[in-house]
Amino acid sequence: MGKRTILVSVLLVFVLSFSLAIAKHHTAEERGRVHFNNVAFAGGKKSCSTCHPNGRGLEGAGAKTKFSIMGGEQNSLEEAINICIINANKGVAIDDNSVEMQELASYIKSLGAPKVPGYGK
Ligand code: HEC
Repeated sequence: MGKRTILVSVLLVFVLSFSLAIAKHHTAEERGRVHFNNVAFAGGKKSCSTCHPNGRGLEGAGAKTKFSIMGGEQNSLEEAINICIINANKGVAIDDNSVEMQELASYIKSLGAPKVPGYGK
């Protein structure tokens, strides 16, 4: 093996491990958390975190299929999120299948089970 081959291999390993390290911190869940804290998300004026600080109160929401927010009924997490985007953030609804929606949903699902027994039932 020539010096150049060794050098290129070392460089390749370095670049690969660096990309992996970046990828690890840029999971869908992590990007969802960024949207959640973004005051301008979906054209809105408030961040989700304003009312749900660090996702507090949304533990367990990721596992639900029925919601009743602000006097209405929503049949999916995506629908619930859009109700908040429109009425709470004062933004514009995003597509259920959009990357941003999937990322927000991943973040909410990562919050886990309700900390207060019976919350959100
Ligand atoms: C102005 C305050 C406010 C903002 C901003 C807000 N929400 Fe909400 N959200 C509420 C209220 C009020 C409810 C209904 C009461 C409850 O269940 O906590 C709710 C309920 C929810 C629920 C259903 C919880 C459950 O278990 O039934 C989800 C999911 C949710 N919000 C996500 C979001 C997301 C995502 C954003 C940002 C795009 C957001 N909210 C921004 C006030 C807000």
